[in-house]
Amino acid sequence: MSKKRKTPEELRSHRWYGVNDLRSFGHRSRTAQMGYDREEYAGKPVIAILNTWSEINPCHTHFKERVEEVKRGIWQAGGFPVELPVQTLSEPFQKPTTMLYRNFLAMEAEETLRSYPADGVVLMGGCDKTTPALLMGAISVDLPAIFLPAGPMLNGNWNGVTLGSGSDTWKYWADLRAGKITEQDWKGVEGGIARSPGHCMTMGTASTMTSAAEALGFTLPGYASIPAVDSRHAQFAARTGRRIVDMVWEDLKPSDIITRKSVDNAVTTCLALSGSSNAIVHMIALARRAGVDLTLAQYDDIARRTPVLANIRPTGKFLMEDFFYAGGLMAMLKELGDLIDGTQLTVNGKTLGENIAEARIFNDDVIRRRTNPLMRDTGLAVLRGNIAPDGAVIKPGAAEPHLHVHTGRAVVFKDYNDMAARVDSEELDIDENCVIVLQHAGPIGAPGMPEWGQLPIPQKILKKGVRDMVRISDARMSGTSYGACVLHVAPESFVGGPFALVQDGDMIELNVPERRLNVLVSDEELVRRKASWVAPEPRFTRGYGAMHQMHVMQADKGCDFDFLQRDGAGCSCGGGGEPEIH
Ligand code: FES
Repeated sequence: MSKKRKTPEELRSHRWYGVNDLRSFGHRSRTAQMGYDREEYAGKPVIAILNTWSEINPCHTHFKERVEEVKRGIWQAGGFPVELPVQTLSEPFQKPTTMLYRNFLAMEAEETLRSYPADGVVLMGGCDKTTPALLMGAISVDLPAIFLPAGPMLNGNWNGVTLGSGSDTWKYWADLRAGKITEQDWKGVEGGIARSPGHCMTMGTASTMTSAAEALGFTLPGYASIPAVDSRHAQFAARTGRRIVDMVWEDLKPSDIITRKSVDNAVTTCLALSGSSNAIVHMIALARRAGVDLTLAQYDDIARRTPVLANIRPTGKFLMEDFFYAGGLMAMLKELGDLIDGTQLTVNGKTLGENIAEARIFNDDVIRRRTNPLMRDTGLAVLRGNIAPDGAVIKPGAAEPHLHVHTGRAVVFKDYNDMAARVDSEELDIDENCVIVLQHAGPIGAPGMPEWGQLPIPQKILKKGVRDMVRISDARMSGTSYGACVLHVAPESFVGGPFALVQDGDMIELNVPERRLNVLVSDEELVRRKASWVAPEPRFTRGYGAMHQMHVMQADKGCDFDFLQRDGAGCSCGGGGEPEIH
């Protein structure tokens, strides 16, 4: 790709600073008020830095330093940095779920860029939803954009045992509930499981989505795998700052980078990593922002041909720090060979193939060879059936294999509170062959489709030593979770999807190899149940929540707002694109 380099007069910010009128006088005098001489910014690209740092986000603690390194790079390359704080989306703290606010940050990113004199943008994210949200906003506004991934935290450690975010929380919590470890042990795990800044270091949503961002072409090559506290992470931050300035002059925009093929590369990456099931929802939303209609069926097709090469928890054994030392994402992408389209352009101006040409694997237990994959093709499966006509997903690799084909009696919880109140009751009529069902946990019903999908196994069953059961919900699941959990059932129960019609005692059939999920009840009976189904009261009557419930789409469409689709298609407010950026 070669475009004409921009001139200073062609910069978008020129309209704020460069013209000689009353309004630009105001912009210049107010910039002077902040201590800048005209020559420090005149004719230079203004680089917005969307920073998701906050004191409530432990994954982004180091962003306070990284942003200074980004600014250093921008100054070095002849740009003018402007840091703009945006919503932090702190996964451990924000309730009911950060997913409720992913679209909020996406809108904030888009509108911040649209309304201020930005010529290009550095997107600083990493904790779960921050990555898709920032990319969605940047794709929609289509200014030159580069992503700075937070990087994973160091491996956890307790008494010499390596601990992984999330995965070991669930594991030791189950052990505590089963009486296998003491309260003192549990406190030790608490102190050692998160030892440094950075996002979760298992293959959760954060590692999956930052890797997807790199495979899409939005980060400098190799950046997504570098641990947050490694000095190379800081070096890459300055490099990112330098590069975005050149991207502005080159007019290299998201629309040059995100294509059908780069989306397929990112999906392949998520699957080869055995990444978080959440990535499906985010990848669909991202792709649709760029006008690429990624469907669940296409995702499943790619899953069937993609081997799992990353031996990382929860599917595998190691953690992101080990992955980095083993060669990182670039080495894995190279090993994927013809499954990756190397012709796709990336933010450094080179193709993905050029970027990974020299990559090497240094430990082929951590990054498996294609001849010796962790799993041949089972990173993720899309299921369909009479309770999920628009699809549902499962990570077969995270489930015990004997549950891949299973028929069991449904034990139904009407919502999260119902489940919390009864799941550990001695009176609950349940055994390990049953199928646990949670309704009203979807995008509108929960609201926000929280990560409740790893439904708790009742204590009396845990005590028997059972650690996995078939569980079904319209919720999501943390990427660090594991188990035979069927997720993202669409349409969700709250809006009257057939999943709402499942009752205690129904037999449910799961067949992963054949991609089937059915309740074994006659069509006539389901019609009868549907006729007596009563729609629940709306969750919200005002504010952002009301807007969310009115406009959020179902999981198979990526849970974006209908009016934020590329052309506004399907929007109940009429759609119609967006104004040109001035
Ligand atoms: Fe931030 Fe897991 S809590 S990535």
